Amino acid sequence: MIHWTSTRRWFPVTRELASLNHAGVAPISPPVAEALARYAKEATERGAFDYARAYDREIERVRGTAAELLSARREEIAFVKNTTEGLGIVAAGLDWKAGDRVVTCDLEYPSNVYPWWHLRSRGVETVMLANRDGRLPLESIEDALRDPAVRLLALSSVEFGTGARNDLVAIGEICRSQGVLFCVDAIQSLGCLPLEVESSHIDFLAADGHKWLLSVEGCGIFYCAQRSLELLQPTVVGWRSVTDNLEFDSYHMELQPSAGRFEEGTPNTPGIFALGAAIDLLFEIGIDAIAERVLALTDHLVDGLRAHEAEIISPRGEGEASGIVAFRMPGEAPNATVDRLRAAGVFTVARRGAVRASPHFYNDEPDLDRLLDAL
Ligand SMILES: Cc1ncc(COP(=O)(O)O)c(C=O)c1O
Repeated sequence: MIHWTSTRRWFPVTRELASLNHAGVAPISPPVAEALARYAKEATERGAFDYARAYDREIERVRGTAAELLSARREEIAFVKNTTEGLGIVAAGLDWKAGDRVVTCDLEYPSNVYPWWHLRSRGVETVMLANRDGRLPLESIEDALRDPAVRLLALSSVEFGTGARNDLVAIGEICRSQGVLFCVDAIQSLGCLPLEVESSHIDFLAADGHKWLLSVEGCGIFYCAQRSLELLQPTVVGWRSVTDNLEFDSYHMELQPSAGRFEEGTPNTPGIFALGAAIDLLFEIGIDAIAERVLALTDHLVDGLRAHEAEIISPRGEGEASGIVAFRMPGEAPNATVDRLRAAGVFTVARRGAVRASPHFYNDEPDLDRLLDAL
């Protein structure tokens, strides 16, 4: 039994604010700040004198932790600077032929649209499926993937605007049966909702650390299934991409037999320290417990909003709810509502014509009631 109130101690932001923007940029916890300080202390006092012990060891530990979070293997994980970089590795790396198609939908964040549109010059067409009431129906995906020209489906685990949760297991099965590659932008759920790459037949996945993972900006996770590794030609190759990469005296081009080949140079070591501490904290609570808690909090918020006559934009049916609640107040522009909430110390943002609130596990009912009271 988790004592949720006591988890607030990890988030000093709660002293002042109702911090409800985990779908944007999350606050960090003292353990994450301490991990950054640990890096800074080592760098200050020892420089790189103990690089292997102080830095490499932690980088590889965090790789294992990130793999565990996805039920993947450590060889399938690369650190990237953001979600966009991970999606770009896939878009730029596949051997596209003119006439190939990518399927995505009109609810996606631009990071999961522009890398595919950018392939127009190579003759690749992007099919933008139309949402229905803020979600993408499975039937639309099924229909679209019957087209033999479709090579890849690119979709978010949770849509950033409406918060609709996509059923990755069902979608992955459609991809598998049609022989279509499955690329997932997981930034709006990783750290909040469970995700298993294997059972969802995911080939590629990317997620930055600064939202639901509760880490810092600029260091994220890229997953490439071992079976799909050779499908991607790395576009940027450097000293770190190859095997025996500390042998600087003999040039060779044998790429690492793992996703590590996508880390072309020195990694964001402080970012990885932070990410490791953030994932440790999530594991201490447990992702299943976090998911249950977040869904209960968002249910509470939705009930309260309905009582205030708000229009709920987020799909909230069985299996489609997430940590994101998008709503509109009748007769008020979303930005005006956000400003009003901000004045009351409640942090939300306006996205896609709605107010977006996104609580994490350490938020509590009083945080949500503060939002409702401010309305
Ligand atoms: C669904 C989604 N994908 C990608 C991004 C951007 O990710 P990054 O800045 O890590 O590339 C966001 C940020 O809001 C997002 O909501």
